[in-house]
Amino acid sequence: MPLTESTTQSVLDNGGREPVLAVDNLVVTFPVRGGQVSAVADITFEVREGETLGILGESGCGKSSAGRAVMQIPSPTSGSVRLDGKELTGLTRKQLRTDRAAMQMIFQDPVSSLNPRRKVKDLVAEGRHIRGEKVTDAEIRQLLSEVGLDPDTVWDRRPHELSGGQCQRVCIARALMMRPRLMICDEPVSSLDVSVQAQILNLLEDAKSEHNLSMVFIAHDLAVVKNISDRVMIMYLGKVCEVVPSDTLVTEAVHPYTKLLLSSVPGAEDDVPVPAGELPSPLNPPSGCRFRTRCPFATEKCAAEEPALETIAPDHQIACHYARELMNA
Ligand SMILES: Nc1ncnc2c1ncn2[C@@H]1O[C@H](COP(=O)(O)OP(=O)(O)O)[C@@H](O)[C@H]1O
Ligand code: SF4
Ligand SMILES: [Mg+2]
Repeated sequence: MPLTESTTQSVLDNGGREPVLAVDNLVVTFPVRGGQVSAVADITFEVREGETLGILGESGCGKSSAGRAVMQIPSPTSGSVRLDGKELTGLTRKQLRTDRAAMQMIFQDPVSSLNPRRKVKDLVAEGRHIRGEKVTDAEIRQLLSEVGLDPDTVWDRRPHELSGGQCQRVCIARALMMRPRLMICDEPVSSLDVSVQAQILNLLEDAKSEHNLSMVFIAHDLAVVKNISDRVMIMYLGKVCEVVPSDTLVTEAVHPYTKLLLSSVPGAEDDVPVPAGELPSPLNPPSGCRFRTRCPFATEKCAAEEPALETIAPDHQIACHYARELMNA
């Protein structure tokens, strides 16, 4: 494909193989009083074999809605989600139970994502039990050890008897029990003490290489996303602004919103800085480019026309009418 051709369909990965996850024209709207919240507004992306795709953007930009729609909890308003080439939208609950098992999600709040009445040993085996499969104690013990928990200590404990970090370890063991190909991690360390955040991130990276996983890593923390990801997809108000390899994120990023995220003051680089002006309401997003109300380069064209996501370099896509001018500026 010529580098300048705009892409709205997800492409085959570099080896010509079907990506593990292919998401096309994903739309998520929530009906609310007074209209529709446009949480995810037609986004297209793929996750390749062995890759970690980071999704970065300020709170409310649609990261969790996108992750949940990929998992079909609930199914997206429209669009296509293919896992290993298999379409997941429109499946029955029973079909999803088998066809989605290769994709597991880790949530921001591990404690509330676990059934408080169940013991650790049952929580870890639950997914396989629901599918009618046998799980041996040895398998459970092995996974608990792998995620850094002492099986003898936690075996009969319930979530409220564990710390947040320990609960997230249980969630990771539960996910690994399903032998996934892809893990979607939605701000997996945001609710944890700073002292355990790095441990959980290391655990996820170890699990990824040990089990040959691909990963979607959602966060609002620029430094974390950059470190853990191969490519970073930057979202603003339900749209993809830019997709860029993390190695070249700092030097090659072009989109005015990405540049703004990168311009954070030294020392405060842990968090995504919020641009000046209010985040427009997703109930009534700006016409044309959704970033135009906060963009220093906005013109009339930006209000009239929505910029398409265009490939400007290998693995580098950007949605801005003035991408080329900004690149050469
Ligand atoms: N169940 C829901 N009902 C109505 N609006 C929702 C719902 N879930 C999310 N939203 C709205 O969708 C937008 C995107 O939210 P979310 O996906 O949680 O963003 P992020 O994860 O990036 O913080 C926000 O405006 C949020 O208020
Ligand atoms: S399309 Fe226009 S408003 Fe949007 S980022 Fe580019 S210059 Fe800014
Ligand atoms: Mg979220």
